Amino acid sequence: MPAPNTSEKTSQLSARIQALPQPFAAITAYDYPSARLADEAGIEVILVGDSVGMVVAGMEDTTGVTMEQMCYHTEIVCRGVNHAIVVADLPIHSYDTPEMSVENGHRLMAAGADAVKLEGGLGQIDKVAAMVAADIPVVGHLGMLPQRVREEGGYKKKGKTQTEATALLEAAVALAEAGVLMIVLESVLADSADPITDALSIPTIGIGSGRNCSAQIRVWHDVVGAYPWFVPPFAKTYTHAAEQIREALSNYRRELL
Ligand code: KIV
Repeated sequence: MPAPNTSEKTSQLSARIQALPQPFAAITAYDYPSARLADEAGIEVILVGDSVGMVVAGMEDTTGVTMEQMCYHTEIVCRGVNHAIVVADLPIHSYDTPEMSVENGHRLMAAGADAVKLEGGLGQIDKVAAMVAADIPVVGHLGMLPQRVREEGGYKKKGKTQTEATALLEAAVALAEAGVLMIVLESVLADSADPITDALSIPTIGIGSGRNCSAQIRVWHDVVGAYPWFVPPFAKTYTHAAEQIREALSNYRRELL
């Protein structure tokens, strides 16, 4: 039997991404029903985000999320998906070296992901290159990096100065040249996000980064109003699931009295 082409998965996924409509929609999902509902709604990309730590596990931020948790959530999300491309987040400290990136990237792929996502720019090029060489499709993430929220002292808008905008553009180009297939732009000023989208031949996926990215991504709980205790300023809530659930639960309780 011939040896498998080492970039088979990456080129197949690249072709699937190229065939997506623009703009396309991406959303996070963390379990079977949320993933299946998103897939049935025709959402093109599903991210098993490490935001699972916040909106599912009630943590303060994403810095406590582990590889074991990400593998579990990736597995149960993939069980609900028939069409969408599933991207899984590499959690903090799971990609500190190129070797760790490859090992943990393979674990998320074995759990069913089509691609893995890491946060950061020029400092991650060697990790991206190592994963691409190992045929692990990679998605980048620039702008506000939630895994660095503690060092940053909060969730801050990025690309506010010309220097920051230029650095973001350089990082995006370097990530694309290293082989990432898409780049999430989080909380980047639209005026700084637009030139990145214009410069790249791969899609940008915006969250709080203006309307002109190639795609948009939102957190599942923000879209359906399932996490009413904190809603980011850029989130639009399309229904109020938490209120409906509260009402259903108190009706259930009342009927028993
Ligand atoms: O973990 C996550 O939900 C994300 C999105 C905010 C893009 O990375």
